[in-house]
Amino acid sequence: MAASIALADPPSPMREDLVAYRAVGGYEGLKAALIRGGASVLAAIEDSGLRGHGGAAFPAGRKWRLAAERAATCRHVVANGGEHEPGSEKDKHLVERHPHRVLEGMLLCGLATGATRGWLYLIEDMAPQIASAERAIAEARAAGLLGGTILGSEFAFDVAIHRAPPTYVAGEETAAIDSIEGGPGKPRKKPPYPGEYGLRGEPTTVNNVETLTHVPWIVRHGAGAYRAIGTRESPGTMLVTLPAELRRPGVVEIPFGTSWRTLIEQHGGGVRDGRRIRAIHPALSCGFLAGKHLDVGIAHETLRPLGTAPGCGGLRLVLDGDDVLARLLEIARFFMKEQCGQCPPCRMETNQFAHVLGALQAGKGGNFADPIRKVADFARKKGFCSLIEMAAAPILSALDLFGDELGTASSASG
Ligand SMILES: Cc1cc2nc3c(=O)[nH]c(=O)nc-3n(C[C@H](O)[C@H](O)[C@H](O)COP(=O)(O)O)c2cc1C
Repeated sequence: MAASIALADPPSPMREDLVAYRAVGGYEGLKAALIRGGASVLAAIEDSGLRGHGGAAFPAGRKWRLAAERAATCRHVVANGGEHEPGSEKDKHLVERHPHRVLEGMLLCGLATGATRGWLYLIEDMAPQIASAERAIAEARAAGLLGGTILGSEFAFDVAIHRAPPTYVAGEETAAIDSIEGGPGKPRKKPPYPGEYGLRGEPTTVNNVETLTHVPWIVRHGAGAYRAIGTRESPGTMLVTLPAELRRPGVVEIPFGTSWRTLIEQHGGGVRDGRRIRAIHPALSCGFLAGKHLDVGIAHETLRPLGTAPGCGGLRLVLDGDDVLARLLEIARFFMKEQCGQCPPCRMETNQFAHVLGALQAGKGGNFADPIRKVADFARKKGFCSLIEMAAAPILSALDLFGDELGTASSASG
């Protein structure tokens, strides 16, 4: 059984150009899909159980069907490469090293949903990724893989690169749409969802770059082969960005269900200085997991009951000797700085977290856990986007996990 779909492995030191991509079966999925039709692609993605890799893990097939079934004369695909979460590098890796996989995923999404316009959403300071994508688009156009009559078929689809402002919140899907439309890149109220009313009011499928790179493999090998990798509720593989504390940092691909121990020791070569792992932080916007859970498999269904999620795979570790409070304050300040200011509960929550944790660090102790929990409870689900919940997840889980150290009552530290 395949354990990888070759997104990171073997690590490609160079950009995969069109010749190299074709040599490993690139665009074969598109060729077959143009004969079988878009409905077969949509069915394959639904059957595969592919979930979004941008953080929320929403089933890709459900999102695609929403856009496909919405009556419209024009539809869009947005490949979200706005990766701005500290510790996550996988989307930048994909766009820079495997740009044709991203383009083929966008084309297949376009074919399945009836879209003709593709937008590769990048951040304006991502120079290597923009350069790589520009070259790949030019190669694809010259080879008849983008444009009017793709590979001689009636399917028309073209891709433009959008250079977004360098803010975290601009990676949220409706903020991405706002930015492409020329706005400041701030989230909009949902519903309506982009699949119903997206770019210029037209049905728009927004997927993370990594999600789209799984699509060509699924179309070529079938939904069953994809489901044979990973776990029941988390089929396939995921990319993880391993942190600098490990002997081999960088982007690796693992089948869902791989344990944290295997990821850290086998893929990452173990902790560089041998320090004990006190807690695993699957990604900045997720809850912490006690170090005693190193043998738990990485999958949505196994992490959910433990209060966390695979997230975007930007792994961080809390090691013996690390200053937990300093880490929490860094997280709180990140979200305070990155909230866009338009939803008062989000502004209030993120400012309050940073204020309370800052006071704690300055030695002003007292009961700080209750105000944090109260403000998180009040703000929950009150924003246009989920930044409120993303900011709260690590802080709330840390109150439980590092309670003794921080001076709260409860502790579940492993
Ligand atoms: C504050 C915020 C920032 C986000 N940043 C990104 C991002 O950089 N890249 C991304 O793919 N999704 C990001 N998302 C999630 C997107 O809104 C959306 O769910 C995702 O692009 C959908 O793709 P997927 O279903 O393939 O995961 C962000 C969400 C929020 C609330």
